[in-house]
Order: sequence, then structure tokens, then C-alpha cells
Amino acid sequence: MIYFEGPLLALETSCDETSAAIIRGRRVCSNAVASQIALHGKWGGVVPEAAARAHVEALVPTIREALDEANVTLQDLRAIAVTNRPGLIGALSVGLTAAKAMAHGLGVPLLGVHHLEGHLCSPLALESEIPFPHVCLIVSGGHTELVLVKALGDYTIVGETRDDAAGEAFDKGARLLGLGYPGGYAIQQAAVGGNPSRYPLPKGLSGDTIDFSFSGLKTAVLRLTEKQGVSLDIQDAAASLQEAITSVLVERAIRACRQLDASALTLVGGVAANLALREKFTLASKREGIQFFTPPLSLCTDNAAMIGLAASWRLARGESHDGSLDAYPNADLAAGA
Ligand code: KG4
Ligand code: ZN
Repeated sequence: MIYFEGPLLALETSCDETSAAIIRGRRVCSNAVASQIALHGKWGGVVPEAAARAHVEALVPTIREALDEANVTLQDLRAIAVTNRPGLIGALSVGLTAAKAMAHGLGVPLLGVHHLEGHLCSPLALESEIPFPHVCLIVSGGHTELVLVKALGDYTIVGETRDDAAGEAFDKGARLLGLGYPGGYAIQQAAVGGNPSRYPLPKGLSGDTIDFSFSGLKTAVLRLTEKQGVSLDIQDAAASLQEAITSVLVERAIRACRQLDASALTLVGGVAANLALREKFTLASKREGIQFFTPPLSLCTDNAAMIGLAASWRLARGESHDGSLDAYPNADLAAGA
């Protein structure tokens, strides 16, 4: 695979992180992220209008930070990449408008990137070559998808959640346990030293499936809090919830590799930052003789470097979009560019 020499500037504003990154080839030269966690934390979830306004305020300083850290000037840039789908429409529009203006002003190509393709391409930052075909598990706040990756750009969704996403299960569970927002990291921290088998929780669909279901888990945690009341041990409950989510993710991902005869597996998306999950994947893939790849933590939660990595090979192939590029709240990963 050939990559774009660059430097290219990538922007990501699809949800609650404002991010800008500089990429050369497959190298992440900088990856600046302005988080909105403190802003949305007081409401217990992302408020779309507030997110868009915060992107407007943070975008220019974040771009400046990414340029400075990479020691790159605006005039050095050879392309602009931006997440244009899927996501919150107002939030997406902020990054897209800036990207269009910069590409036009600098006279360089513009490329719109699918947010999930960004996550899927995040392991390209690793030095190792990831073999094809491989199975990729994307686990984020809005998505839980098992993807058969025959080549970069050739994606088939082979398994997905029938209701809540894995990140949503962490977030809703954390709210029920009074652990705040965002829930994944809060659960991980609360679970340290906890007993993961203290409160057995349902693992969703049974049988030989590679789909997921997390809505029953949420109800079970609600019942648990009602039944136990103040006697509920939060540490053990967090450990039990983390165990229920992570064990089903690893079981289905390994099953997908076996069913599809894939000898490599990647784990990406915000939930891939979960240390218990990373450890389970490492152990299970070793046991099964499957090569396993996951990006560093900074490339798991939303960031612009992953958008730049997805753009890098597409730009090198000569792809670009014109100024009519639009933002889309929903978009199928398998539908292509
Ligand atoms: O990929 P991401 O940053 O945004 C979306 O595209 O949705 O994923 C955010 C999700 C949230 O649900 C958050 O709770 C979860 O990733 N997350 C974690 C951890 N860090 C973030 N879940 C479990 N453990 C973590 N350490
Ligand atoms: Zn994401």
C-alpha cells in the first residue's frame, strides 16, 4: 500500500472531541485533542448544540497546536482530510466547513472520511504490517461492529449490535451506578480490585452468533441497583459489568475469526481503550494463534490522527472530493467512499 507523503492536516469534529492531526505517510506527527468531557459531564451526555458551539471555539487553536507540534506551516500542507460522516450534523459541519475553506484557500486536495473507517485505520500507526483478510472489531459509543477487512476500502459488516453499542452499555451502566460520564473510563477505574463474578450479569444473545445485544444488560444493572439498594458494592458491580461486556466482545471476535478463517484481528474505537478488554484480547488471540493488533490508547478514543491515516492511502490513490462535499449524520461503512 502506498501512502500520501504529505504533510496532510486531518480534522475530526463528529461528536464531542475537537481534534486536528498532521500525518506524513503512516507517521502521526501530531494529534491535538480538545476534549468536551467537562462541558457535557454536567448533563450526563453529549448535547449536540453545545458540542457544535464548542467545536467552533476550539477548532482554530487545536489546528494551531497540531501544526506547531509537528513543526509544519499552513503553506507546507499538501492536503486536508476531514470526517464528513456519520456523526452529529452540527458538529460535523464545523470541521467540514473549515476543511473546505482551508483546502480552497491553500489550493490543495480535500478528502471526506468515514468516521468508522478512521477507527478501522487507526492500527496503521503501528509499525507492524497487518495481514489481509483480517477481522476488525469497532467498539465505540455509537457502534459495535465486526468487520471483515479483505483490503483497505473493502469492508463487509459480519456482525453488529442489535440494540445498544458496547460504549453505550458502559455509559448507561455507569450512570445507573452513579459513576458519572463518560462511563467507560469511570467503570474501568471503579472496577480496579473488584470481584468480576460477584454479580452475574446477562451476556446477551446465546448460540453461535457473531451479533451482540446489550440492552438486557442495562435492565439487569437497573434491577440489581433496585434490589441491592445501598448495600450494592459499587466496586464489584463495576467489575461485574466490565466482565459481562468485555467477555462477550472477545468471545464473538474470536468466533468471527474462526468462522471467517481470518488469522488476524484488530480492536479499535473508544472502548478499545479499556485495559481489561485489551488484556482479554491479547490472551485469547495468543491462545488461538491469531495475530492481534490494537492502537495506542490515544488513537482509540476519537482523534484526528486516525482520520488522517485513512485519508493517507486514499489520497495516495488519487482520490479527493470537490467543494460540494457534504456532511451526513448516517452513513454505511460498507457502502464505500
Ligand atoms: O470512539 P469514541 O471515542 O466515540 C465514538 O465514536 O462514539 O468512543 C466513546 C466511547 C464511550 O462510550 C466511552 O465510555 C468509551 O468509548 N470508552 C471506554 C473507555 N474509554 C472510553 N469504555 C471502556 N473503557 C474505557 N477505558
Ligand atoms: Zn469514534
